[in-house]
Amino acid sequence: MNIVLGVSGGIAAYKAVSLARLFVESGHELHVVPTADALRFVGLPTWEAISRNPVTTSVHDNVPEVRHVGLGQRADLIVIAPATANTLAKMTAGLADDLLGTTLLASTAPVLVAPAMHTEMWQHAATQHNVQTLRNRGVHFVGPDIGRLTGNDSGPGRMSEPETIFAAANSLLDSLPSQQETLDHPTADLAGLRVLVSAGGTREPLDPVRFLGNRSSGKQGVAIAAAAAARGAEVTLVAANIDDSILATAGTIRVLPVGTTADLDKAMRAESAQADVVIMAAAVADYRAAEIADGKIRKEETNDSTLTLTLVENPDVLRGLVSARKPGQLIVGFAAETVQNDDELLERGRRKLARKGCDLLALNAVGWGEGFESDHNELLILGSDGAVLQAARGSKTQTAHALLNAISTTRAGRVS
Ligand SMILES: Cc1cc2nc3c(=O)[nH]c(=O)nc-3n(C[C@H](O)[C@H](O)[C@H](O)COP(=O)(O)O)c2cc1C
Repeated sequence: MNIVLGVSGGIAAYKAVSLARLFVESGHELHVVPTADALRFVGLPTWEAISRNPVTTSVHDNVPEVRHVGLGQRADLIVIAPATANTLAKMTAGLADDLLGTTLLASTAPVLVAPAMHTEMWQHAATQHNVQTLRNRGVHFVGPDIGRLTGNDSGPGRMSEPETIFAAANSLLDSLPSQQETLDHPTADLAGLRVLVSAGGTREPLDPVRFLGNRSSGKQGVAIAAAAAARGAEVTLVAANIDDSILATAGTIRVLPVGTTADLDKAMRAESAQADVVIMAAAVADYRAAEIADGKIRKEETNDSTLTLTLVENPDVLRGLVSARKPGQLIVGFAAETVQNDDELLERGRRKLARKGCDLLALNAVGWGEGFESDHNELLILGSDGAVLQAARGSKTQTAHALLNAISTTRAGRVS
């Protein structure tokens, strides 16, 4: 397996040498990515000799290779040992000012972190907040242990022993093939269930040639429909303005094309009466034009250089589905939010959950460069009480399976 070992600047960096040796001796391909400060504790020649690969801290070395992208994309696992308080804070913020930061952002591999620092630093509210945020994102932690620290003092903050980190890394690696198997040969755990999925983005006409719309491609919803069908469910997809090439990736499922929010609302209400699980992944227009012009709105017909459109509210599709929920039916909402950080994302998600009353909410951050049209996604899946059930990251097929896992677990919890 291909392992990236990130090393940050703490005394425990010397123990990461033994960890690197364990990885290499057990046959893994190892790339060590130290921070600049880590090299003040253990020098570059040691890392190169032990890993048998070139080592650098900078994104600007070997530029033609674009090292961070290559390292990040090829990695099966990234281990950060030791992880300093500073590196944890940088990971939380997504800083990318060195090779380690950029590699972490360029990767969808699982990340295992072994923190090491003085007790006060570990227990500081800032560090604990960072650790919680990273855990919510799906980052795995090993340690820290309680024990002797750098000086004569002792307490929580000592890095776990190299053998313990090695064992935790191997157990994460062991779980990887089974994730891949789920994608290639999913179990039929949804057999007998009728699953209704909406996907895409609704369009509200302004005149015969123009509309108000949004950037949703429908890829995530289509991936959910395809994954549910692969797991044995009988699937209906209500597809709002989805490109045929994307729809084709769903295989042979029942598809009902719709255009506007009102069309989607009607189709979802009618179909949900037969559904065991309803997943509202479509991005719906909250407003529509009060009047749709019969002919094309022409510049010459407006009085000045502005055009005022009057919009009226559309029906709240998700709330309507929740209020008509039949016994035992599970309803999943989606929330795409433009936010500054994960805390804000969670807060918005929890408020939406309270407003809508659905059973699960899949939350993702969107913006100019994230979420829409991409083949990858990051979802935080919340239970009805607002607790984070899963943080899923990866291809839209992987995040689709993570959502279906949460649905299965929630249904099982209701039955038992
Ligand atoms: C002798 C010494 C030991 C240190 N040990 C740690 C440590 O164990 N954990 C930690 O979080 N910071 C430790 N620091 C502080 C970090 O080196 C410092 O925060 C640095 O900016 C970390 O940079 P990096 O995270 O980019 O490697 C230590 C500093 C010194 C001088």
